[in-house]
Amino acid sequence: MFNIFKKNASQTIEHDVVPEHIAIIMDGNGRWAKNRKMPRVKGHYEGMQTVKRITTHASQIGVKYLTLYAFSTENWSRPKEEVNYLMKLPVDFLASFLPDLMKNNVKVESIGFIEQLPEHTKEALYKVQRETENNTGMKLIFALNYGGRKEIVAAVQLLAAAYKNNEIQLDDIDEERVGQALFTRDYPDPELLIRTSGEKRLSNFMLWQTSYSEFVFDEKLWPDYAPEDLDHAIHTYCKRQRRFGGLNG
Ligand code: FPP
Repeated sequence: MFNIFKKNASQTIEHDVVPEHIAIIMDGNGRWAKNRKMPRVKGHYEGMQTVKRITTHASQIGVKYLTLYAFSTENWSRPKEEVNYLMKLPVDFLASFLPDLMKNNVKVESIGFIEQLPEHTKEALYKVQRETENNTGMKLIFALNYGGRKEIVAAVQLLAAAYKNNEIQLDDIDEERVGQALFTRDYPDPELLIRTSGEKRLSNFMLWQTSYSEFVFDEKLWPDYAPEDLDHAIHTYCKRQRRFGGLNG
């Protein structure tokens, strides 16, 4: 038994009911800063500290994959100063986080249109991916320059090209094949999707992969999100019964 519920010590869950894959829409950095009359970028800075705390905690309670929505294909339309700051965050943050990642055996990976990111952002990301590539614990997957619809379009283009080149037939295109053409081809679908800040939207995140995910929304702004809140979300998830379109067993 593995007790992850500090809010109520009598609640314990089996280790294996911790979802294998948790995806998080980290929302509310801007509002957190605004509430304190601080510039929005300060909210992103604090958001990075939350990324560290939640990553460490998730890896320690046995999560296998943690996907974080860090920058969407729509986020380019934010003010230039904010975009520049977000693009620099991996440079400042990933190096300082490396010792913790190594200690917790966490492997960093990424999904999204990474090649379109600025050189310094890509370099920092690739560096931490290289440094952690032999780690065998939790996979920390940054969704960067990621958009669910564009991901599906790219997959359709891949399959259409394979069809045109006679590499596949029309009947070969099934759910499995489409899944294999997505950025997430190496990961199971997330069982649990969390969004902070009280917003209840998917915002173009993992549209295909969240078909059967349980959604848990938290009112807290991302910089305030704590390990106990993750435990609470997992507890909520565990209480729900997943039927995958079928009936109760
Ligand atoms: C949403 O808050 C947050 C983002 C768009 C960026 C989140 C990114 C991080 C916490 C760190 C990124 C990590 C790496 C490695 C790049 P918001 O600004 O939309 O908040 P608001 O809705 O209150 O304005």
